[in-house]
Amino acid sequence: MRYGHFDDVRREYVITRPDTPLPWINYLGSEDYFGIISNTAGGYSFYRDARLRRLTRYRYNNAPLDLGGRYVYLRDDASGDYWSPSWQPTQRDLDDYTCRHGLGYSIISSRYQGIRAETLYFVPAGETLEVWRVRVTNERAVPATLSLFSSVEFCLWDAQDDATNFQRNYSVGEVEVEDGVIYHKTEYRERRNHFAFFACSEPLAGFDTQRDAFLGPYRSWDRPIGVERGFASNSIAHGWQPSGSHHVRLELRPGETREIVFLLGYAENPADAKFDPPGSQTIDKRRVRPTIARYLQPDVVADAFEALQSRWTDLLGICRAETGNEHVDRMVNIWNPYQCMVTFNMSRSASLFESGIGRGMGFRDTSQDLLGFVHLVPARARERLLDVASTQLPTGGAYHQYQPLTKRGNNDVGSGFNDDPAWLVVSVAAYLKETGDSSILDEALPFDNQPGTERPLYEHLQRSIQYTLDRLGPHGLPLIGRADWNDCLNLNCFSETPGESFQTTENRSGGVAESVFIAALFVLAAGELAAIAGLRGDAAEAARSLAAASEMRRAVDQHGWDGAWFRRAYDFFGRPVGSAENDEGQIFIEPQGMCVLAGIGIDDGRARTALDSVRERLATPHGIVLLQPAFTRYHLHLGEISTYPGGYKENAGVFCHTNPWVMIGETRVRNGDAALDCYLRINPSAREDLSETHRGEPYVYAQMIAGADAATPGEAKNTWLTGTAAWNFVAISQWILGIRPEHDGLRIDPCVPVAWGDFTATRRFRGATYRIAVRKRPGTSGCVTRLRVDGRTIEGNLVPLPSSTEAVIEVEAFVDAPVEDVVEATP
Ligand code: GLC
Ligand code: GLC
Repeated sequence: MRYGHFDDVRREYVITRPDTPLPWINYLGSEDYFGIISNTAGGYSFYRDARLRRLTRYRYNNAPLDLGGRYVYLRDDASGDYWSPSWQPTQRDLDDYTCRHGLGYSIISSRYQGIRAETLYFVPAGETLEVWRVRVTNERAVPATLSLFSSVEFCLWDAQDDATNFQRNYSVGEVEVEDGVIYHKTEYRERRNHFAFFACSEPLAGFDTQRDAFLGPYRSWDRPIGVERGFASNSIAHGWQPSGSHHVRLELRPGETREIVFLLGYAENPADAKFDPPGSQTIDKRRVRPTIARYLQPDVVADAFEALQSRWTDLLGICRAETGNEHVDRMVNIWNPYQCMVTFNMSRSASLFESGIGRGMGFRDTSQDLLGFVHLVPARARERLLDVASTQLPTGGAYHQYQPLTKRGNNDVGSGFNDDPAWLVVSVAAYLKETGDSSILDEALPFDNQPGTERPLYEHLQRSIQYTLDRLGPHGLPLIGRADWNDCLNLNCFSETPGESFQTTENRSGGVAESVFIAALFVLAAGELAAIAGLRGDAAEAARSLAAASEMRRAVDQHGWDGAWFRRAYDFFGRPVGSAENDEGQIFIEPQGMCVLAGIGIDDGRARTALDSVRERLATPHGIVLLQPAFTRYHLHLGEISTYPGGYKENAGVFCHTNPWVMIGETRVRNGDAALDCYLRINPSAREDLSETHRGEPYVYAQMIAGADAATPGEAKNTWLTGTAAWNFVAISQWILGIRPEHDGLRIDPCVPVAWGDFTATRRFRGATYRIAVRKRPGTSGCVTRLRVDGRTIEGNLVPLPSSTEAVIEVEAFVDAPVEDVVEATP
């Protein structure tokens, strides 16, 4: 069953009942000011860092799950009846409820007792504020006298401290109210130079800033006393829980609509100009007042909203496809790039599964997120690469994460995850292929942010590769360290203490645990470095990297193959993991995907055999599970992976991030049917009809869908912030549809189902627009063997770089050779 539908024209998902299986959320903001918002207006806002600059509170893991938000209330002053047009928190029986989640905005609308209310929430580009534009229409035949109340609960900035340190926090809260604007200024008297503001476009009948004055003692957000009795108490918060609520009275003629704008925002003052007059304790509002005044005007709001939509029209125009498969088209053209942008912005910090007070930016996560984002705003990708590389350690190793506000690496979740450095090479390569901007390689960047240690980014990449070579085990495979991509495969940990972190606990020394996955990733990364070195004319490095890659392939050939699939690893004692010799965890997905993606086993048939094993042993209707058989008990020598109940997360869940590696692998052995089939199983739009089972949003990929061993197979968790977004985008757009940026041109290498016919795509690349028509007779498979580029025939499938920018280049690509006749098109 469904809870709504896609509106592809407006680029929205339209939720038509408020009681979705889980809160279905969206994101506001794309630069500095962000918020998450659910389909019933739950969620919170922050400036840059969800932990350190939180504007509003949210209650985690609550019942109901989603409490705390941007709630407005309407009250019929004649009857005293009141309701929330977003359903929560009052949960009245609304008519015509819809929530339209769009790109960077949400519109929640409903009707109750003949009164329609529609609220648009969004963040104008370049501003650190959010707009709530409320439109109230009287659809009754008689005049209506209404009260409108806004509400937010302020967070005392550090969201972690706010949720724990009550002995202090109940005494520090401070606000100011001036000209109807509520200013939240806790700690502004001392070291903070920032404050929040909450403004309203209408004259106020009253306001509240103390939570309990608004709600009333022993009441919650479902029945605030101020709303129930129809007037605010003009409370000023001193300590306790500062909050904000405006009360506006509305008289509406039959058919009349009124538009009321609320603004919630963040502002900073220079440290020496905080107070007005100087020496007082009153916020200097001279800088912020003009912004507030501007955005309280409806036409400014309308223009800003239009600008937001045009921005997305422009971004989505960079890569588009019309394939005739609605699930492919709407993900490629709308939702997948959007999710990539959100993931790039948030890393793993703020969602309904990530509390915003936990993780910083992961080294490997950020590097992979960039793969799906780099074509959208390459300048921001560049900046991010420089930040990440500057946290790299002199050994070439990496902190596992860094804080976006300070840009410093930290050891909160340890370091020594031996796959980390290789991802940097992969992401820099993607940046170079997209942009051709080789100047990035000469950027002098420090190690561990230490001034004086600056070396060109190119050398950082060389050290990344060297890091693996310096840490090889007895089989010539890379030592795994704390873990590789799979954070939970902790082969050196041996943790016996309850609650102890598998990622930070001192590892046992003296072991020889090696990772076949890192070996494959290394082959990929060393190949990328060789290509980059070639571009720089550094023949020695090119040769060295290629030799190292072949050496690593040999090690995988000799020690990474189990007979019908690639092994996963060798444990501390040198015994195989992910082998037919094991009772549980005999086959893992990661090495099958990554080895084939990296080109291992393609020439000798092992790639196909491995992928056949994946289909036989790991594929389920809900996607490919991570391993089989699931671990049924805790294995001390394997670590966290065996702590999860079978079918969940790394223990045999469908860990979606890994599925696109298999999709890409399938395209490398030219099996377009298998590749697309694998994609559609985890494509949220294709799963929309299963919403009751899937439970997550049907417009974004999930990190995990419960596997066949789970009690709830097919149930998605950890939607939104996942490497699945970037990798799926790469798999579907670059490998299945086959439109792939490369150093020396745009490769057109589709590998689609046999039954597919022609399809078209548009790609902006290196300043030119390529209009691509793939000419394919249904029933054929195989590769593109020739192109017609602006009427000129070219052998092969590489469209050369544009000679002038801003050009429109017409490309026809012909798929007409049977698959057997075609040699591998790519290195
Ligand atoms: C989570 C982590 C990611 C890791 C994956 C597998 O998604 O963010 O870094 O690779 O889990 O353990
Ligand atoms: C992986 C898991 C995540 C866990 C982390 C650290 O990334 O997917 O759930 O928090 O490892 O244990």
